[in-house]
Amino acid sequence: MVNIKLFEFIGRHSCGSEDNQNMLIHGDNNEVLDLLKLQYSGSIKCIYIDPPYNNGEKYTHYDDDKEHDKWIGEITETLIKLRPLLNEEGSIWISIDDSEVHYLKVAADEIFGRKSFITTVVWEHRTSRENRKVFSNNHEYILVYAKNTKKFKLARNLLPATPEIIDRYKNPDKDPRGPWQSISASVQAGHAVKSQFYEIVAPNGKKHLPPNGRCWVYNKERMEHEILNNNIWFGKDGNGVPRIKKFLSKGTIGVTPETLWLASDVGTTNSAKKHLLTLFPNKAVFDTPKPENLIKRILDIATNEGEIVLDAYLGSGTTSAVAHKMNRKYIGIERGLHIVDIVLPRMRNVIGGEEGGISKEISWTGGGGFRFFELKQNKRLSLKENNNVYQLNPLVKKNKIE
Ligand SMILES: C[S@@+](CC[C@H](N)C(=O)[O-])C[C@H]1O[C@@H](n2cnc3c(N)ncnc32)[C@H](O)[C@@H]1O
Repeated sequence: MVNIKLFEFIGRHSCGSEDNQNMLIHGDNNEVLDLLKLQYSGSIKCIYIDPPYNNGEKYTHYDDDKEHDKWIGEITETLIKLRPLLNEEGSIWISIDDSEVHYLKVAADEIFGRKSFITTVVWEHRTSRENRKVFSNNHEYILVYAKNTKKFKLARNLLPATPEIIDRYKNPDKDPRGPWQSISASVQAGHAVKSQFYEIVAPNGKKHLPPNGRCWVYNKERMEHEILNNNIWFGKDGNGVPRIKKFLSKGTIGVTPETLWLASDVGTTNSAKKHLLTLFPNKAVFDTPKPENLIKRILDIATNEGEIVLDAYLGSGTTSAVAHKMNRKYIGIERGLHIVDIVLPRMRNVIGGEEGGISKEISWTGGGGFRFFELKQNKRLSLKENNNVYQLNPLVKKNKIE
């Protein structure tokens, strides 16, 4: 039995319709996670965490200055508790900077397994130069691990194609299937099998061998079938190197995510601060917020509508705000009082149709709700709502346990 008590202050802090599963929890994540595992094991699609980086700073809302051993010990403990919450297609994304990234990678490898490591994203977190330092450090990292690499690979989304990408689709042969672009019909020969080396005969009789060190992507039979079906392009005059026609109308046109995330695409720490300042011009600004576009990109890749996102270091509430606007369910945990001072008003703004961050891009107009819980170290595991105590699932009110 976990020695923890959760109170919900409904009416005072919860907001919007009650029939939602969005939870904001004020408390230390290590204790809250002990509670969450009872109900959420194997059900979270994406965990994003942005822990204190241990960079020696003392920020307005939290300290970021610990002995390395203590810091790595604590984050290790948190990661151990987070892993079982992921579902089979789930992934965890961990923000970190230069000073601890390598130690954190080794610690995370031990918990998730080196084979579960997906990649390190490099985020250009500032565009101004810091001239007082030896190097002006303008990037951070996001370590990405999957619960099950194969399943994550199948489940992860491509990123939406930009207008420039869509513009590359043309229709020079007036194909009734609509615009297309050509992609190479050959691949590197490294893992090739014998049936990929042959001579292609174009409709005009011209013969084509694969370029040096390459082989055809299809075997001969499949290639002939594709040529017959007008799926191979030999250039306007019919003499060009064979290429595959990829149609805009077929399936989702998306792009494979890359690992270098530029400020121009996903924002900077400063742009995130400016967004917060527009929301709360009279409050001390939160020093280390993430821009909404950065979190949107993570959720675009790792989740679909209705799936659950967890952030165990919520800070100013960027993850909950973005998840809410993107119609994901979310759980946010924060131990600082700024969950009341910053996150709650931010989320109320979001529900009211706040126009900053990613709102315009996704045509956000407001709606929905969240429930607010307070963790109390007390006699036993419970949820309290207006003096009634319930099991953890906020929707299962009939399971009264006290
Ligand atoms: C870098 S900030 C997160 C910023 C956030 N991503 C945003 O966009 O605003 C780290 C946050 O983790 C919180 N934190 C640190 N240790 C914690 C713990 N054990 N449990 C819950 N929150 C914690 C800090 O109070 C701080 O707000």
